Amino acid sequence: MALVTAVRRLAQVSLREYSRRRTAVSCWGGWQAAERSFSTGLQPLRSDNKVMVHFVNRDGEKITVKGSPGDSLLDIVINEDLDFDGFGACEGTLACSTCHLIFDEDVYKKLGPVTDEEMDMLDLAYGLTETSRLGCQICLSKSLEGMVARVPESVTDIRQSKDGSS
Ligand code: FES
Repeated sequence: MALVTAVRRLAQVSLREYSRRRTAVSCWGGWQAAERSFSTGLQPLRSDNKVMVHFVNRDGEKITVKGSPGDSLLDIVINEDLDFDGFGACEGTLACSTCHLIFDEDVYKKLGPVTDEEMDMLDLAYGLTETSRLGCQICLSKSLEGMVARVPESVTDIRQSKDGSS
């Protein structure tokens, strides 16, 4: 029994680490920051370069937080311990659509291309709009300073549909 528990814990830690690395690699800002640190030999000064984000929760509450360029919106929700029920269930592995966020059109145009994998998950999101994206795939950059991200009324978690639970 202890072995099973240990294996489960190891799998959870591995999934979290995989998610963290995958997000870092998928973020253009993360690449740029990494490239800068390689070319200068210095670590990027992330704390000097924060980006402000306004989340609007399901009940209309506006929550203003800051994140570092290269962080995904899921990273910010986790780091700031924001209480968005069910948000980020797959920890950024593109296996759910619980990180669905809705943006203003001008912000949406700055978010970069949508991958086929993200589009597949977005298709399953509750309340999909023309300006919907998955928060785990959106990475902060200075051009997104002051952006507004709306949390939809409800979430759909495809993983629960697949295993028959609701
Ligand atoms: S957290 Fe599951 S797809 Fe973004």
